[in-house]
Amino acid sequence: MNICIVGLGYVGLPLAVEFAKRGHTVFGIDISESRIDKLKSAENYIGDVSSDELTKVIESGFLIPTTTFESCEQAQAVFICVPTPISDNKDPDLSAIRSAAAAIGPLIHEGQLVILKSTTFPTTTEEVVMPIVEELSGLKAGKDFHLAYSPERVDPGNTKWTTANTPIVVGGLTPACTDAAADLLSEITPNVRKVSSPKVAEMEKLLENIFRSVNIALVNEMARLCDRMGGISLWEVVDAAATKPFGFMPFYPGPGLGGHCIPIDPYYLSWLARKYDFETSFITLSARTNEDMPFYVVDAVQRVLADRGSMTPGKPRILILGAAFKKNVDDLRHSPAFKIIEVLEQQTNALVDFSDPHATEFRKEWVEGSPVMHSVGSDPEQISSYDVVVMVTDHDAFDYQEIADNARFILDTRNAFKDVDIDSERIRVLGAGQFLTHKTQRGEA
Ligand SMILES: NC(=O)c1ccc[n+]([C@@H]2O[C@H](COP(=O)([O-])OP(=O)(O)OC[C@H]3O[C@@H](n4cnc5c(N)ncnc54)[C@H](O)[C@@H]3O)[C@@H](O)[C@H]2O)c1
Repeated sequence: MNICIVGLGYVGLPLAVEFAKRGHTVFGIDISESRIDKLKSAENYIGDVSSDELTKVIESGFLIPTTTFESCEQAQAVFICVPTPISDNKDPDLSAIRSAAAAIGPLIHEGQLVILKSTTFPTTTEEVVMPIVEELSGLKAGKDFHLAYSPERVDPGNTKWTTANTPIVVGGLTPACTDAAADLLSEITPNVRKVSSPKVAEMEKLLENIFRSVNIALVNEMARLCDRMGGISLWEVVDAAATKPFGFMPFYPGPGLGGHCIPIDPYYLSWLARKYDFETSFITLSARTNEDMPFYVVDAVQRVLADRGSMTPGKPRILILGAAFKKNVDDLRHSPAFKIIEVLEQQTNALVDFSDPHATEFRKEWVEGSPVMHSVGSDPEQISSYDVVVMVTDHDAFDYQEIADNARFILDTRNAFKDVDIDSERIRVLGAGQFLTHKTQRGEA
């Protein structure tokens, strides 16, 4: 088969490689010239893709990277895997989906299959993609061409569950659309669950991600309560609860959410709900609770500086350990590290550095024209030069004992130092009962 994949990021590139590996001719289409140039020389930019496999499918000509869309004319199936961000006001931004649909629309012909994979709110396939493609192709979806939605479940950094073995959900406009999409997807994963419509599949994806947002918000709130009360570590509580073999799934607190999905998806649903005069207060509350966590971390840094003073009065030095949004990956998108750095710089006059073995540079988007910020090392000399080291992303690559031995003071938002010898006077762990202590009416500290 000839298959087109539009958008070659964390979702599209692994999918393209999976199909190309199985002997299909895959046209990988992306508007980013730099990404296409890299792919043409088999340069890998997505951690989850095997560089060997990428080289093989590029050199053998099964994956053809391009910035143009003509290949959609000769493809039997076209996947849309473009970004679905939110605007500054937290409204859905479907401009990439619209522009991808507009680019493929004139090239769609009878018998083709179009599958949207981008995460989005229910009705997008039928009310955004379908009218654009129908108008530009002059064809009728469900009659002349197949149209379906199948959400992506790739979990960057997860080596056990990958694009090739994670069950997948698919919902087409008609049963024939669903069958066509399921047949194709079952080539890369044996477990395809058909649902009755694109809307159901779209809502299913949002449920998955909002489920995480709500549960993480719950433990974040409980972590803050434990810090207020003192004497209870939420980490111990969650691990104890996790011994229950049914009806409980462990979630852990942290410095805030990151990535391209969980911080964004609740807003996709709450935006849609407003159109139906419905307020998703529970879901919105989870997003707000999680968004507050970086500010909580900053408050804790300020408390430490107030309690202990800084080595250089007026110019405390703070090191953020880990800038990527989750462990062992290089993806910086929406990482809570940015908010922590931004607010620390605004509120403390501190010099803030970061150290991340995977994500080694970024630009401070909140400072106009700012230079690229580079990761510093995490060797003993470096670590000991900071007033406070804030553990934000617990990459395996860090030497935790060495950091503990050399840091002046550690704020640990991940319980990453749990197995390390460290004097309790030099560390506070989020949710462990002493991260940010407040005097309460009861006089407890
Ligand atoms: N990253 C994840 O872990 C993940 C998991 C599940 C679902 N998703 C969803 O999948 C979608 C894609 O996410 P991603 O992480 O792959 O994004 P990404 O930013 O890594 O990649 C998207 C790619 O699409 C390209 N692009 C943008 N507009 C385009 C257009 N009009 N035509 C062609 N190419 C275009 C970009 O240049 C980029 O290379 C999003 O809706 C996201 O929410 C992501």
